[in-house]
Amino acid sequence: MALLPILRYPDPRLHKVAEPVREVDDRIRQLVRDMAETMYDAPGVGLAATQVDVHERVVVIDVSEEGNDLRVLINPEILWKSDELQVYEEGCLSVPGVYDQVQRAARIRVRALNENGETYEFDAEGLLAVCVQHEMDHLLGKVFVEYLSPLKQNRIRTKLRKQEREALRA
Ligand code: NI
Repeated sequence: MALLPILRYPDPRLHKVAEPVREVDDRIRQLVRDMAETMYDAPGVGLAATQVDVHERVVVIDVSEEGNDLRVLINPEILWKSDELQVYEEGCLSVPGVYDQVQRAARIRVRALNENGETYEFDAEGLLAVCVQHEMDHLLGKVFVEYLSPLKQNRIRTKLRKQEREALRA
């Protein structure tokens, strides 16, 4: 097991589009274990492989209070989205300290492979629906701040670059 370094916005590697996983093998299972450990350590409720600079369609999510309900989504697809939307205050491990409201489908149906390469489906609403859509955006190279106004995006980039410079000096 290993903690993986998380890319920080505005790192251009966050905008790479992930490739489908061809085979769920030991390499992918190791990646899943390392991503889960990294997510729990952060702590966060979701992590996409893109955020650890691996550009394959792998996501881990755990929205439970106790941190004991890990979901592994390999090659996830959204089969259905409700017309009804919900607004949620989102954050992201790649955009530390920034939280803002994003509107997304309120309910979704998802199909993915688990770490054994088995297909499964589930319905999601509330935070889980938000999280799945947020993480699947990462796989397409999209960070949640891209839903915000250009002015806010500029402010966030400036703030994070400043944080990075201060961290380097420290
Ligand atoms: Ni994120």
